[in-house]
Amino acid sequence: MSFWHTLPQPIFGLAPMDGVTDAAFRCMVARHGKPDVQYTEFVNVDELCRGISASWGQVRYVEAERPVLAQIYGANPETFYQATQIICALGFDGVDINMGCPAKSIAARGCGAGLIKNPPQARAIIRAVQDGVRDWAAGQALMPDGLHPHARRRLEQALQEAPSGAQCPRSAIPVSVKTRLGYDTVVIEDWLTCLLDEHPEVITVHGRTLKQMYRDQADWQAIGRAATLGRETTTLILGNGDIQTMPEAVERVRATQVHGVLIGRSAMGNPWLFLAKEWARSQCALATEAGPPPAVSAYERFCVALEHVRYFEALNDGRPFVTLRKYLGWYCRGFPGATEARAALFKTTNAAEVAEVFATYGPEQIPQSN
Ligand SMILES: Cc1cc2nc3c(=O)[nH]c(=O)nc-3n(C[C@H](O)[C@H](O)[C@H](O)COP(=O)(O)O)c2cc1C
Repeated sequence: MSFWHTLPQPIFGLAPMDGVTDAAFRCMVARHGKPDVQYTEFVNVDELCRGISASWGQVRYVEAERPVLAQIYGANPETFYQATQIICALGFDGVDINMGCPAKSIAARGCGAGLIKNPPQARAIIRAVQDGVRDWAAGQALMPDGLHPHARRRLEQALQEAPSGAQCPRSAIPVSVKTRLGYDTVVIEDWLTCLLDEHPEVITVHGRTLKQMYRDQADWQAIGRAATLGRETTTLILGNGDIQTMPEAVERVRATQVHGVLIGRSAMGNPWLFLAKEWARSQCALATEAGPPPAVSAYERFCVALEHVRYFEALNDGRPFVTLRKYLGWYCRGFPGATEARAALFKTTNAAEVAEVFATYGPEQIPQSN
C-alpha cells in the first residue's frame, strides 16, 4: 500500500506551481504549514534525462517535505520511462504526470493538457511511468549506464547530497496524474474513465478546461462527477481550483466527496494555510474537537519571510535574487504599511536589505540570523 492510502482523509495538499513551488518555497511550507503532500514544479522529462541544470535544480528537496512528489511532463513515453527512474533514484515519494498545463508552448507539443486530445498517448505515458517504477523497484533499471553522461554526473552528485530517504531500499512509488476537465469542452466523464483504466493511484482534477486557462470559476460540480466515478475504483480523486481558505476547502469536500484537495495560489505568501488541516478534517467529519489555528501575526510573517530569503541564499542554486522578490511581496499583507513595505522589498538584493526593510516596517525586532 502506498503512502497515499495511509494519509488521513480528506487530504490537503499543496498544488504544483511552476515558478512558485521551488525548493525554498516548499521548504517554508513544509516547516510552517505542513500540507499532507506537496509537489515540485513540473519538470520536463527530456531536460531531466539530458542533465540540464535548471531541471535538476527543480528536483532538489529536503526530508521535511515528505511526502513529496516530483511532477514531470513531456510527450514521449520512453523518455518518461527513464525520467521516472531518475525520480525513483532521487528518493521521491511519488511521481505525478502533468496532463493539465494549458500553456500553448507545452500543449501544442502534445504535453500537459495537450494529452487530453490524445488518450492513447496519455495511456501509453501512464504505463511507461508505471513500468519505470516497477523496473526500478525490481532492480531492472536502465540506469545508471543507460543515462546521458550529463544526467549520470548530476545523479551521482545529487545522491551524495540527497536526503537520507534516497538511500533507502528500492520500493515501487505511486504514480498519479493531474489534469483538467477537458480540452475545449468538459469531457471529464470520458477522460476520467480513460485514465482510470490505467489505475493511477491518484487523479487530481483542476475544475477548468485547457481553453479556460485560469479564467472563469472552477467547476466543482464537474469535479463532483469525477469523484463519483472515482469512488467505484481504488483511485483517489483530489479536487482543485479556486480554494482560498480552509473553511472553503471543507465546503468543497463535503459537497463533492472528493478524497481531498490541492490548494495552489492561496498558499502564496501563506505557508500557514495548511496548519488548519486537522481542524478542517474534524469539520469534514462533522465533529468539532479541533479548533481553528490562531491568526498569523505580522511579526511571524516577517520572520518566515526572512527565513525564506536566508534559505534561498543558502541553496545557491543559480536562481537570481530577483526571482525571490515576488514571494516577499506575497508575505507582505494584512498590516499597516504593507504597501510601502512591498515597494521597498521589490528593490532589495540580499537578506540583509530585506531585514532592514522589515526593521523599518515591522512591529517588533526581527531576528538577525536563523
Ligand atoms: C503560477 C502557476 C504555475 C502553475 N504550475 C503548475 C505546474 O507546474 N503543474 C501543475 O500541475 N499545475 C500548475 N499550475 C496549476 C495549479 O497547480 C492549480 O491547478 C491551479 O492554480 C488551480 O488551483 P488554485 O486555484 O488553488 O491555485 C500552476 C498554476 C499557477 C498559478
